[in-house]
Amino acid sequence: MAEENENKRKKMEKPQKKKQKRESEKEEEQESKEAEAKSGVQTQVKNNSNKKRKQVFPFGNYKHYYGYRIGPGREVEEDPRIKVLKKEWFEGKDCLDIGCNSGVVTIQIAKNFKCKSILGLDIDSGLIEDAFWCLRKFVKMESAQKKQASDSNAKAVQEVNRSEQCSTLSSEGTSKSSSHHSSEERDLSDIVSFRRENFVQSHRPLDKYYDTILCLSVTKWIHLNWGDDGLITLFTKIWRLLHPGGIFVLEPQPWESYEKNRKVSETTASNYHSIMFRPEHFQEILLDKIGFRKVEDVTSGLSGTRTGFDRPIFAFYK
Ligand SMILES: C[S@@+](CC[C@H](N)C(=O)[O-])C[C@H]1O[C@@H](n2cnc3c(N)ncnc32)[C@H](O)[C@@H]1O
Repeated sequence: MAEENENKRKKMEKPQKKKQKRESEKEEEQESKEAEAKSGVQTQVKNNSNKKRKQVFPFGNYKHYYGYRIGPGREVEEDPRIKVLKKEWFEGKDCLDIGCNSGVVTIQIAKNFKCKSILGLDIDSGLIEDAFWCLRKFVKMESAQKKQASDSNAKAVQEVNRSEQCSTLSSEGTSKSSSHHSSEERDLSDIVSFRRENFVQSHRPLDKYYDTILCLSVTKWIHLNWGDDGLITLFTKIWRLLHPGGIFVLEPQPWESYEKNRKVSETTASNYHSIMFRPEHFQEILLDKIGFRKVEDVTSGLSGTRTGFDRPIFAFYK
């Protein structure tokens, strides 16, 4: 009798459990749709056999990209590529960073090389939100560091005054430190800005020109999503947006890495097979078809300057 009752109970529970499972799957689907709508770009959620959700980033629009590249929670540490970039490409210059992700490298370039301005563009609005958040974090950190420095500076001046009781030195010391601050320190938020934009497909009027344009680890994504035409559009637009003598800094991903990402969407899978221009042809295209000139002392031969990730970075003059 007890066994019969237990079986009945189990039978009644089964449809209930199935219903709960269906509801939770629906909720997950809804969540993922909301995330897509928020980011403004299509991200996909793949179900594998264990029903684990796997997010796909069809534009290389990875979240926590710098956590992955530099190490988790280490966004404030310098990206190793910064070491191979030249200060003179950025100092006092108007710069554009195409495919800026969450803006960490854009901000580091502004901070280290004292750009006049730098605009970071990304196709993913969620990443642009992250970039603004990151900028606020850097600005806060910077002002805390400045305050700490000026406090210890003031303390040091006080100590000198006290020990030497030399009024001339004290006034000189104070005025020197304040003039140093006002001349060299502009708030990062006056220099750095971000905007959501699909660089390949946007039709903004060319009303602003740049001294330096960066395109770091973005060509593969543009190439896979918009094919050879997209790549040529990218290079041509960059050319048009540069002042004469302006610099294009390019870090292309190697062809072997395309294979790993070719299946992120149907579009990428189909473009992968029709791509004719391989990354090893980019230099030739930029020099012979677009009209750039190579910055000889930065890249030697085809290898270019190697970063910590063993990828060459090339620089070209307009
Ligand atoms: C792999 S990440 C590289 C981020 C950064 N440039 C770096 O190297 O540290 C590629 C970035 O390019 C962006 N992206 C891809 N296609 C784009 C497009 N058509 N317009 C603007 N951004 C794009 C992605 O959203 C992603 O954030």
